[in-house]
Amino acid sequence: MSFLAKLFRKQTEEEVKVAEKLNIGIVLGSTRQGRVSPQVGEWVKGIAEKRGDANYEIVDIADFKLPLLGEGTGEEPGLAQWNEKLASLDGFVFIVQEYNHSITGALKNALDSAREAWYNKAAGIVSYGSTGGARAAEHLRGICGELKIADVRTHPTLSLFTDFENMSEFKPADLHEANVNAMLDEVVSWSGALKTVR
Ligand SMILES: Cc1cc2nc3c(=O)[nH]c(=O)nc-3n(C[C@H](O)[C@H](O)[C@H](O)COP(=O)(O)O)c2cc1C
Repeated sequence: MSFLAKLFRKQTEEEVKVAEKLNIGIVLGSTRQGRVSPQVGEWVKGIAEKRGDANYEIVDIADFKLPLLGEGTGEEPGLAQWNEKLASLDGFVFIVQEYNHSITGALKNALDSAREAWYNKAAGIVSYGSTGGARAAEHLRGICGELKIADVRTHPTLSLFTDFENMSEFKPADLHEANVNAMLDEVVSWSGALKTVR
């Protein structure tokens, strides 16, 4: 379609609906080879998309090839793309895995690699680990406070022992689906409310 045709074309009903909805990014917190986070992220996205209440997308930190903070030139295209992606989102669901009782270095670096793009947005946390990733998730909550991210209360926790086969194949227990929906209810409502602050 030509530029002018695009400019004057009426948006389809579907396009209007997509544009009016909140945009929620499902952020994969791990980047290592062999990571299980894509399986968990796709599962959350599948539950989220059945709701039809927001536009949900996977945001994979690995795609942006972020330099370690302060070690690059600051001109890396991924750094600008990371900030642009975050700026386009109204809220987040962090897929958090526990590494040495905290979040991954990759997620911390990604959090540090933006500032205003995080401000006044809501986030939910879905975590996993030997104790459901609870320690990592609590560390993330402290960081969220500094980045003006309102982290919601409901927090689905997945066990490496019972929700994964051989700690690698994700087979979540049914009970988690209701918890993910309860978390998303809070993320969507707070993301909408915080839009009025920005
Ligand atoms: C460096 C490292 C440290 C880890 N430390 C912990 C830990 O402290 N607690 C825990 O429950 N699991 C720990 N694990 C296990 C991870 O939670 C598990 O490997 C998980 O699958 C990692 O997520 P990923 O596959 O998406 O990278 C650790 C794994 C790695 C690689």
